[in-house]
Amino acid sequence: MIIRNASWITMDGAPSTVVPVFRKIFSCGRPVRSAALEVTCDGVYEAMLNGRRVGSFILAPGWTEYRRRLQVQCYDVKYLLNEENALEITVANGWYRRTNAPWTGTKNPDEFLPAMLIAALRLVYEDGSEETILTDSSWEVSESSVTLSGIFIGEDVDMTRPLSYEPAVTCDYPKSMLIPQEGPEVHEQETVWPRASFRTPRGEWVIDFGQNLTGYMAFELDARAGEKLSLSTAEVLDKDGNFYTGNYRSARSQLHYICREGRQSYKPRFTFFGFRYLRIDEAPEGFSVDQIHAVVLHSEMKRTGWLDSSDPMLNQLFSNIIWSQKGNYLDIPTDCPQRDERYGWTGDGQIFCRAATLQYDVRQFFRKWLADVRAAQHDNGWVPEVVPSLTAYKPGGGAWSDAVTIIPWQLYQTYGDISFLSDMYDAMVRWIAYIPTVSTTKDLWTGCWTYGDWLALDWPEGYVPANIELSKRGYSNDDLICSAFYANSVDIVIRAGKLLGKDVSEYEALHARIAAAYKARFIDRLNTQTEKVLTLHFNLSDDPRSLADALAEQVRACGMKLQTGLVGTPYLLHELSRYGYTEIAWSLLLRKEYPGWLYSVSKGATTMWEHWDGIKPDGTFWDDDMNSYNHYAYGSVADWVFGVACGIQPAEPGYAAARIEPRPDPRLNSLGAVLDTVHGRIRSFWKYTDSGIRYEIDTPVRTEIVIDGKTRIVEKGQYLF
Ligand code: BGC
Repeated sequence: MIIRNASWITMDGAPSTVVPVFRKIFSCGRPVRSAALEVTCDGVYEAMLNGRRVGSFILAPGWTEYRRRLQVQCYDVKYLLNEENALEITVANGWYRRTNAPWTGTKNPDEFLPAMLIAALRLVYEDGSEETILTDSSWEVSESSVTLSGIFIGEDVDMTRPLSYEPAVTCDYPKSMLIPQEGPEVHEQETVWPRASFRTPRGEWVIDFGQNLTGYMAFELDARAGEKLSLSTAEVLDKDGNFYTGNYRSARSQLHYICREGRQSYKPRFTFFGFRYLRIDEAPEGFSVDQIHAVVLHSEMKRTGWLDSSDPMLNQLFSNIIWSQKGNYLDIPTDCPQRDERYGWTGDGQIFCRAATLQYDVRQFFRKWLADVRAAQHDNGWVPEVVPSLTAYKPGGGAWSDAVTIIPWQLYQTYGDISFLSDMYDAMVRWIAYIPTVSTTKDLWTGCWTYGDWLALDWPEGYVPANIELSKRGYSNDDLICSAFYANSVDIVIRAGKLLGKDVSEYEALHARIAAAYKARFIDRLNTQTEKVLTLHFNLSDDPRSLADALAEQVRACGMKLQTGLVGTPYLLHELSRYGYTEIAWSLLLRKEYPGWLYSVSKGATTMWEHWDGIKPDGTFWDDDMNSYNHYAYGSVADWVFGVACGIQPAEPGYAAARIEPRPDPRLNSLGAVLDTVHGRIRSFWKYTDSGIRYEIDTPVRTEIVIDGKTRIVEKGQYLF
């Protein structure tokens, strides 16, 4: 990368909130054969060459563990060159200098850095000569029209501000962390047009896009200079139909745009929003709703999985899961895209990752993020609760930090690519070696901070949690959760190690000791649904059948309701169906009342909610504090629909061979899944007909098909039963 020869440059003087634009004027006197621009910054940038945008990467350079890894983009800019050229690069805060980190009071140490740019343009002329233009003090810099910008803030723009360039100054800042672009770029993906516009009971003018989405608004209008367009975003309306932004917490999430004279179009360039509704707080005279639309942003990834059923509510759930993946796979896997958080929560990442790998090809997306997990891993082995770690930098505890083992293992299962394991093996080993250094009990993981079975609903009858913090945690035993995930991480190390030809005898002995200690300590004290589910899922019971019976009985006894939180929910239906309780699993999936997957659908959800009752039956909210309407964790149920309801399982990693055992339920007339694996398309469809159940199965590989308990081995082909 020639960018290493360039200097970091900045604007002289006291930092201001106004976003700077750097400029280089240059001429190319001869015909150019190739022109490559390398660029990055400590924020997010937009580069323009002769007034045209360079590339289509939105929010470049993306979000990584910046102090160790900062991606450099390389663009072919030959097609944008003239004889006389102006290269302008605007650098806003983005994630690097992100402000207002929530809840911990932790300050982002990079928050007070000035905006800095580094770039290199390499021109090769037709005559074979070369020229390199590097950022240095020959560049100029001006305050731009963007007067305030931030991931949570949104954007303030004043198009009447004149630019006034002065020399840029070079600055001393490391270059050792510069790496070539690794992840898929974030692109504009879809346009969504207003579905309706109306006055709320409070008299506010609101646009409804009909879909909760992640991205920004874009508009085109005629205006007088100085007229203003101010827009606020919201995910939901309150019970009276009024515009509601309480759940954004401190994220301002607004656009304030001061027009220049004449016809103009704009969209925010350095931020994104999670929203379904826009409130028009102020607009130029004559502004109308057809002048505005929404643009959906997410990382570039190819769709690979589709679900479709005879039930419109279930189909809406499938759509909500897809939209939550799109909305939260914006350069990193986030918990939510709207409030003052939008972090790469490791727990949420691992919970949803199986469903994610089926719905989209996320290989490149996770390859980059896992490299950040490695970079963020502490010297003594602990993995932060969020990656990139930026502000919140503490161990994540059981089920969160275990993303370091679970995600690579899942990627290997879905795609059959062993490099996910070889890349991560050392990190996995260092993680499981860290646990005994902090645990208070030998061969278990006890006495440590954990989020528990976050958001579980299993407090004992009549117990009212003392405060809102406590009410977010379930009743499952923290030590049990951590120990179960410890066992699972060691198990993954064993399986990965064997595939990689490592000696894993030490870990096999460790796993046996953990399992024995777990049984001795917890097996007679499995109270909550999650405690039972984890024990089953991680094979820590000597009598799984009786335990599964007890789990099924518990679900029935509490009125056919799940009580599991983030940790237990992803495995609940799997463990029920694994031990013959598929009918109960179906009941949970199809439940339309709280708590149930179709409850939010009945309340008009278009994405997955953080809380089963984010909006309660009476229309009131769970709370302002932590109430996202775009949180994919419970969307993990899609993997049960693909893998059990439609029955598509890998018999070998990457579906090099498959096993298909559909599990129909008469409450649904039909269900189908299409899965584009690396070995080709698998399709499993079933339908109730007058003469019985019709199964249609297409497979590109040798497959074991199990229907009504009868097994057939088939080769590639299309089958009808
Ligand atoms: C996030 C969760 C996350 C959690 C940790 C929340 O604020 O949104 O999804 O896993 O914190 O418990």
